[in-house]
Amino acid sequence: MNYDVAIGMLGCGTVGSGVARLLQEKQNLYAQRVQAVPGLARVLVRDLARERPGIPAELLTLDPADVLEDPEIQIVIEVMGGIEPAREYILQALRAGKHVVTANKALIARHGLELFEAAAESGVALHFEAAVAGGIPIIQTLKRSLVANQVDAIYGIINGTTNYILSAMTEAGSDFQAVLREAQAQGFAESDPTDDIEGFDAAYKLAILAGLIFDQRIDMQQIHRVGIQRISAEDIAYARRFGYVIKLLAIARRTEHGMEARVNPTMIPQDHPLASVNGVYNALLVNGDAVGELMFYGRGAGQMPTASSIVGDVLNLVAELDAPPNVLMSSPLPATAAVLSPAERVMNRYYIRLQTHDKPGVLGQIGALLGQEEISIHTLVQTKNNPGEAELVLISHPVSELRLRQAVAQIRQLESVREIDSIIRVEDFRFH
Ligand code: NAP
Ligand code: HSE
Repeated sequence: MNYDVAIGMLGCGTVGSGVARLLQEKQNLYAQRVQAVPGLARVLVRDLARERPGIPAELLTLDPADVLEDPEIQIVIEVMGGIEPAREYILQALRAGKHVVTANKALIARHGLELFEAAAESGVALHFEAAVAGGIPIIQTLKRSLVANQVDAIYGIINGTTNYILSAMTEAGSDFQAVLREAQAQGFAESDPTDDIEGFDAAYKLAILAGLIFDQRIDMQQIHRVGIQRISAEDIAYARRFGYVIKLLAIARRTEHGMEARVNPTMIPQDHPLASVNGVYNALLVNGDAVGELMFYGRGAGQMPTASSIVGDVLNLVAELDAPPNVLMSSPLPATAAVLSPAERVMNRYYIRLQTHDKPGVLGQIGALLGQEEISIHTLVQTKNNPGEAELVLISHPVSELRLRQAVAQIRQLESVREIDSIIRVEDFRFH
């Protein structure tokens, strides 16, 4: 292949083969746009025998040195995934003075500091647009286009698998396990879906986004994370009855108590723009102090949307290859971790569903314990499922998580309370 800028690629699976396709099929267009022809020079894989339509066999190698130590290669794309050896290979590439583009959210969220420091020391760039929300161009938007703003809040649906599952549960009234099995059978969920359904994938992406908007380094352990595995068809039905839908929301925002970063199932009003984001789609609502509200919607994963972001990063690098490093795109992360507001102080409204004995005084006892913690009830519904038993569902006014936990611990002790099934945050989209 003829090219002006040699690209090395680590990995050539779902995303890598999409990148290869774009670089081949749109070579002329790209050359016109960035005044240079980028092209794949070497591609590292694990298995040379695997069929890779459209990839010339002579580009493939099993030896990482063919990419990392080739002085001709100026840009390395990492689309292997996982932490090791991807981390080690990226460090080698950066130390060898190569720019790196990666789609690896777990790696950036967990080892970003080390990688950005290595990039700064070598005067090269590390770009990662595809690591958050696949095809949605949110990283460059935050780093470049919104640089004039203080971003006060981001609310994101940034995991397609969980959004697909919650949307299907909402549509069909089905239970979590049934929808998960169907999603796996159709290839919408991984055979090991832990990272997605327990909120790790969204938390990696949120750690990256929160670091950008707070201008501070966010460690994964600082993100309050709850997955969707305990959401039931009953909760979804009650949400609908009260005018809400349940989404796995990733939130980073400035509050009166400090900065907050959390991923958790959240009831959001049915008429909110994020409520209509269904299936595998992602969306982000961004609030900047100058620009106001912005909303981004699109495919958060998949071969070509992800390749779009990666090749976008590559072309941006090619366009600036002879210029000094762009400070907006290459500044290292601060070494000290951000101080986030403790979850206990954050104020939220809560939905609580519990099973009780159906006898006089139960409601009074629960109301008294909530009252002791100054928790005021906004909505209350009692239904009767089995003889002698009642299901209570309530939505509170805003309360600190600490007070809620204290009240719930006491309610759990009541002899008349059989079980507390669910506690879900209710979001009203305030950020100051
Ligand atoms: P994938 O289909 O599993 O492809 C991984 C590729 O890396 C394969 O070509 C594999 O080689 C190669 N590889 C893995 N370990 C290797 C090693 N130790 N040495 C050499 N080659 C190795 O993964 P993917 O879906 O393309 O995802 C790649 C990255 O993009 C991940 O970080 C992922 O989180 C991120 N991402 C993916 C999506 C998406 O929609 N898939 C969206 C956003 C971000 P063989 O082909 O020889 O097995
Ligand atoms: N597993 C992710 C999702 C896609 O379901 O959104 C890659 O980030």
